[in-house]
Amino acid sequence: MKKRVYITRRIPEIGISLLEQKYHVEVFSENRPIDRDLLIKKIKECDALISLLSDKIDDEVLGIAKKLKIIANYAVGYDNIDINAAHRRKIMVTNTPDVLTNATAEIAFALLIVLTRRIIEADRFTREGKYIGWDPMLLLGDELKGKTLGIIGLGRIGQDMALKCQAFGMKTVYYNRKPVDRETEKRLSATYTTLNELLQESDVISIHTPLTDQTHHLMNEETLGRMKTGSYLINTSRGEMIDEKALVHALQTGKIRGAGLDVYEFEPKITQELLDMDNVVLLPHIGSATKETRNRMSETVARNVIAALEGEKPNNLVPERKDVQAQF
Ligand code: GLV
Ligand code: GLV
Repeated sequence: MKKRVYITRRIPEIGISLLEQKYHVEVFSENRPIDRDLLIKKIKECDALISLLSDKIDDEVLGIAKKLKIIANYAVGYDNIDINAAHRRKIMVTNTPDVLTNATAEIAFALLIVLTRRIIEADRFTREGKYIGWDPMLLLGDELKGKTLGIIGLGRIGQDMALKCQAFGMKTVYYNRKPVDRETEKRLSATYTTLNELLQESDVISIHTPLTDQTHHLMNEETLGRMKTGSYLINTSRGEMIDEKALVHALQTGKIRGAGLDVYEFEPKITQELLDMDNVVLLPHIGSATKETRNRMSETVARNVIAALEGEKPNNLVPERKDVQAQF
């Protein structure tokens, strides 16, 4: 009998056709997140599961699985999966790193430039028919050249963001649990600092670290309060990294001039105050949403599943949770 692969949402065809050559593949047919009940029913029968970052794969769900070999998460982040519970049951977990690094750094950079040059505000202003002639004082923003970028989490995406900002004449400081190697620091002209120094020195802070118990609410009332007055905050990692209530307060008091967010604490719900602010740019979690990257993610999850089901080691096995925490 053919092995069974279940996919919790339609993904680009390329990976599905690779899998269909060997296995029985079923895709949740509706254009919305799968219900937990159905996920539990499906996980019972399948040999491989391709999951989304919005599917919560916890101990209870994993306990139902009978012959599951692999969960191939269609994302680089895998905070939606209880990794230790999966490993205890000898279920492999993979993610999709590398293929989305550029796309995600591009969206972080896009947020940075639209925010500092007030592009969304300016577009709204123009469409509303408010443009009545050149104005020396109209929509003045902040220039990037010579400013300091603070990167929290200098992994693949953080490094790529630093590189893009370097081209715009920005200086980079970064905070990580450990400094990266000298060579990388030199290539990015990046300087290692403490979190406190980064908060105080950066004109723009961009978050690129995985969500763990240690990074949950990393940006809270206290850390936001230590940011430079009039600076900006960009988040393309996970929403729970920021205490949204504290962020609203920092924006309302003018402590922070603006925020660019692709992710939210209570995703897909967005705090109403953020929706009402002009100095906040809000995106619907589209960091990796390019045709090129989504095709490569689809191929990556398929190759990881094939390796696991054919008794080989998948390329993108995720480490034990404690190792992830150690990276930060
Ligand atoms: C997207 O947020 C991802 O983790 O790939
Ligand atoms: C993700 O790929 C990261 O390491 O930033």
